[in-house]
Amino acid sequence: MSSQDIPEENLPAEQVDEHGHGAVALADETNPFADPGLPPHEHRIQDIDERAAKRSERVVAMLFTLSMLATVGFIASYVAIPRDKSIFVFPLGHISALNFALGMTLGVALFAIGAGAVHWARTLMSDVEIADQRHPIEAEPEVKAKVLADFKEGAKESALGRRKLIRNTMFGALALFPLSGVMLLRDLGPLPGTKLRHTLWSKGKLLVNMNTNEPLRASDVAVGSLTFAKPEGLEEHDEDFQLQIAKAALMIVRLQPENIKDKRELAWSHEGIVAYSKICTHVGCPISLYEQQTHHVLCPCHQSTFDLSDGARVIFGPAGHALPQLRIGVNEQGYLEALGDFEEPVGPAFWERG
Ligand code: FES
Repeated sequence: MSSQDIPEENLPAEQVDEHGHGAVALADETNPFADPGLPPHEHRIQDIDERAAKRSERVVAMLFTLSMLATVGFIASYVAIPRDKSIFVFPLGHISALNFALGMTLGVALFAIGAGAVHWARTLMSDVEIADQRHPIEAEPEVKAKVLADFKEGAKESALGRRKLIRNTMFGALALFPLSGVMLLRDLGPLPGTKLRHTLWSKGKLLVNMNTNEPLRASDVAVGSLTFAKPEGLEEHDEDFQLQIAKAALMIVRLQPENIKDKRELAWSHEGIVAYSKICTHVGCPISLYEQQTHHVLCPCHQSTFDLSDGARVIFGPAGHALPQLRIGVNEQGYLEALGDFEEPVGPAFWERG
């Protein structure tokens, strides 16, 4: 039953406004931006019918009593049931009778307490909505003036202005102290130096398809396909394979040359075939998703998106730099080859960028 179903004369007087609604402020019709206030309060049957309230009270008392009985049952089971006795319980099969009894009684005891408390709160405790008005966060001018005066008084009493030696050495100590934290950074290991600046790519090194382990011909790369490549000579059983592939992995894509907007990109490609680092410049996840229509590649980690038709610049997401491009060409046999190493660090490489 809702308050709409209850005759107004049955509503508690303190919860009815002059319009017969619950005691809440309604929106000011002359001002559409006024606080609309709370919706009219809906009274529960227990609020207006003492017999219903008594029924709820009995249900709550019954649940609490059930909890007490279950607790007694728990203790009795613990004392009375032998540890080696087993019983058959569908669908668990044969299990320890003691464990079963303890679990059941404890579960019922806890459930009954929770259910009783919830029923009590939902049916008998006050559920009148209360608006708690917010107050301005900014302090009153007199409070601010007092805080400022107290601060000045404190500074005067500490004699910081007069005792310049103490003041200056204190500021020096506070400024230098964080340096000890910086020194601890050394424990993170040796600095990478320029290791990320160099990869296995060098002039004349063939691009090898990572799936087939065969050198890539220009004719193997179809428009719209995405191929992953590694430098020739790098094999999975190599000791430093993971380290090297993490720097040298390439994405190979063939674009229509007229779709390439960036002039340098066009000059570094071969008949529209472009080679970019596969390592995201955000935090180094491998990029794996290619959208053929838009020429966008997407990093699955945090959704950085790069436009391969425009120098692999970042068009969305947290990556801060375009993907580094590798200059490629073809050798006399028609195989794709590198024309040198990357000219900028791959991956995030924050410390190596200017
Ligand atoms: S690592 Fe690629 S978007 Fe974060």
